[in-house]
Amino acid sequence: MSALFQSFQLKDVSLRNRIAVPPMCQYQAVDGLVNDWHHVHYAGLGRGGAGLVIVEATAVSPEGRITPACAGIWSDAHAAALAPIAAAIKAGGAVPGIQIAHAGRKASANRPWEGDDHIPEGDPRGWETISPSALAFGAQLPKVPRAMTLDDIARVRQDFAEAARRARDAGFEWLELHFAHGYLGQTFFSPHSNQRQDQYGGTAENRNRFLLETLEAVRAVWPEHLPLTARFGVIEYDGQDEQTVADAIVLARHFKNAGLDLLSVSAGFTIPGTQIPWKTPGFLAPVAERVRNETGLPVSSAWGMDDPALAERLIASHQLDLVQIGKGHLANPHWSYATARALHQDNAAALLPPSYRYWLQRY
Ligand SMILES: Cc1cc2nc3c(=O)[nH]c(=O)nc-3n(C[C@H](O)[C@H](O)[C@H](O)COP(=O)(O)O)c2cc1C
Repeated sequence: MSALFQSFQLKDVSLRNRIAVPPMCQYQAVDGLVNDWHHVHYAGLGRGGAGLVIVEATAVSPEGRITPACAGIWSDAHAAALAPIAAAIKAGGAVPGIQIAHAGRKASANRPWEGDDHIPEGDPRGWETISPSALAFGAQLPKVPRAMTLDDIARVRQDFAEAARRARDAGFEWLELHFAHGYLGQTFFSPHSNQRQDQYGGTAENRNRFLLETLEAVRAVWPEHLPLTARFGVIEYDGQDEQTVADAIVLARHFKNAGLDLLSVSAGFTIPGTQIPWKTPGFLAPVAERVRNETGLPVSSAWGMDDPALAERLIASHQLDLVQIGKGHLANPHWSYATARALHQDNAAALLPPSYRYWLQRY
């Protein structure tokens, strides 16, 4: 029996296998509201055979969107638009998850295929960005953010908690906090972007504070019986990785003590020009395994793991608890079914709904 197709239990939630669709922005929302595009996209992923489908980075406030076309969950109307998507994912047999996010200094940008850069100053589509310190990301995203006040920090923490409550009410059963990829949480953790002099900057303990307080605020409203997870960039590939990974592991242990159930291990993307080993399939798996071993937290990871034999090996060897397949699912929403066949799994078609299954079993 394939390890990849064994079920996975976390809290009261059971995934039918170890495959997750990670959050992937669609850049198709209007005023943060999801629509038919999202419904069709996520319903297809829900019935494609994966155990977990995590809805894209969904902003906790309008200013937290990456682009004007990003999804949001800052009002009950936004949550109402998301509820049928959670239901459709679940109807397909996958567990419906959602990533809640604040893009910090990477916000107010153009869609990737329309430049992937900041909306120019003075363009009414853009907005003021915020970050721990008034430091821009770099040449491609040059907008200088406003350094957050203590009131801003309290407000964003509250926005995360309210977003979590709405996600719960919308029917999501798995919550992921976006603390990775150079977005707001990651920029508090990283000394590259956090040069505050107060209790939220300086020492590692201070740089951890925003992330931990946000997690605690969310934990207070997110149901105890459902998985609470975070995506976190534990490595930057900037030549200082020993220190960064060691600091990240300390924070991950704090996350665990504060009630985190699983860590999605990713990279920081806090500064441009780092040496990320894109060409090595599954390059993050050894890092995730180290986090797993040193924290006792279950882990998932992504980036170049879509070769079925590799995905199987990463689970069978206990490097990962879940393997996340992103672009593979954009190319084929039935990636899990195709992979079950490639791994000679018995009755692969059982992953699919009857309207497909019946025919695929028959001929
Ligand atoms: C179109 C697209 C949108 C993405 N949006 C998000 C996102 O909303 N949140 C996030 O944490 N990662 C996002 N990512 C990163 C993916 O979750 C994933 O880590 C990445 O695609 C690498 O996995 P893969 O090699 O299997 O595609 C996005 C990636 C793609 C291709």
